[in-house]
Amino acid sequence: MAYNDFSMDNHWLPFTPNRHFRKDPRIFVGAQGMHFTTHDGRQVIDGVSSLWCVGAGHARAPINEAIKKQLDTLDYATAFQASNDKAFQAAEMIAAMAPGDLNKVLFCNSGSEAADTSLKVALAYHRARGEGHRNVFIGRERGYHGVGFGGMSVGGIPANRKVYGGALLPRVDHMRFIHDPVDNAYIHNQEPVWKEDPLVELETRILPLHDPSNVAAIIVEPVAGSAGWYLPPKGYLQRLREICDKHGILLIFDEVITGFGRMGTNFGADFYGVVPDMLNFAKCVTNGVIPLGGVICRDKLYDTMMKTDAPEHVVEFFHGYTYSGHPVACAAAIATLNLFKEENLFVRAGEMGKVLGDAFHSTLKGLPNVIGIRSLGLAAAVELAPIAGAPGKRAYDIFLDCYHTGSLVRPAGDVLVIAPPYIVEKSHIDTLVNTLADAIRAKA
Ligand SMILES: Cc1ncc(COP(=O)(O)O)c(C=O)c1O
Repeated sequence: MAYNDFSMDNHWLPFTPNRHFRKDPRIFVGAQGMHFTTHDGRQVIDGVSSLWCVGAGHARAPINEAIKKQLDTLDYATAFQASNDKAFQAAEMIAAMAPGDLNKVLFCNSGSEAADTSLKVALAYHRARGEGHRNVFIGRERGYHGVGFGGMSVGGIPANRKVYGGALLPRVDHMRFIHDPVDNAYIHNQEPVWKEDPLVELETRILPLHDPSNVAAIIVEPVAGSAGWYLPPKGYLQRLREICDKHGILLIFDEVITGFGRMGTNFGADFYGVVPDMLNFAKCVTNGVIPLGGVICRDKLYDTMMKTDAPEHVVEFFHGYTYSGHPVACAAAIATLNLFKEENLFVRAGEMGKVLGDAFHSTLKGLPNVIGIRSLGLAAAVELAPIAGAPGKRAYDIFLDCYHTGSLVRPAGDVLVIAPPYIVEKSHIDTLVNTLADAIRAKA
């Protein structure tokens, strides 16, 4: 099949420069394991797990079989006032994997919906316990929590926000970004250690400004993924937990990227040894093959919401989606989580992360325009000096070069990220990193 077998006129691509795409289309028509087949019959290595989703690699038979079987058994069932067996089973598995008393799973369909769901739970919970005045949310500069109005408001990526000004939530503030380009430009499979405490600003400026008693929740990605794999300073998440506890503020971890194995552990929460009050997930939970997201809540949130004087026929939380806990998506999740366990893929992700980090630092450090490299978990990022007056162009051109030579990498501003499926072999890593190195040199 060639792309000119179909019209290019109707599909408006998300988060893509559409005008340029029409001149240089990149269209996948098949995938197996670590590789895509393109419309022009080439093989391309999936160096980014297809937006961080495909942890177990492409076309995994147990997941596909589970989906087919579910379609023939219970294709769909109403999500409100009734449910389905697979939703309960998937929730039980997810809760068992989550740390602490994160036990109650609210399903949705995406990371964006998970972000908005978690913010709504925070408001509803505080109101249920008589603190409805807590309505300030705090996110972080360069954080990404999807594209709903809630997630966009607490998110901190300027390009995603600038057009929507007055439509963003009003009572939101942002903590400073967690990148230190001077002392911690190069991070090699370790947590960055900062001389200063980046959370002083939260304690001495942001919280006093709003008064901590008005703050509903703080939401962060344990590692800032979409912005370009920015790692929290050592001790940062623990300190954030302490500050939230001190002031009765809920802590939300957005683990849409770090959840289900990327850090070599079940969740980023396990990697950093910090239990949030809510944990948002999506992507890898179904290996990306079918949309599913969710928010795992601590028992106290659910218990508080159930402790209502309203009669038993009254809904406790007015929120949900037609496809919350879709049986086919939950069947895919059950099969995916079983496969991760059977193949011990999270441990493998941790091991291969070290191989990836070593390859990044030994191959890319010192190349033209490279101003930083960060590796931790099974992901690594190389930061490039922007072209004057054309931010993002250098990384975009390098991404195109890599694609045309058979490697899919991910541009984020002037950063390039590689985050392969957990089944990745050293030979794939060598190909990905060498391709990236050649492209960086070619665009010097
Ligand atoms: C941390 C985080 N939260 C939320 C989202 C949004 O997820 P979705 O695109 O499924 O809405 C993403 C997507 O990359 C993400 O990385």
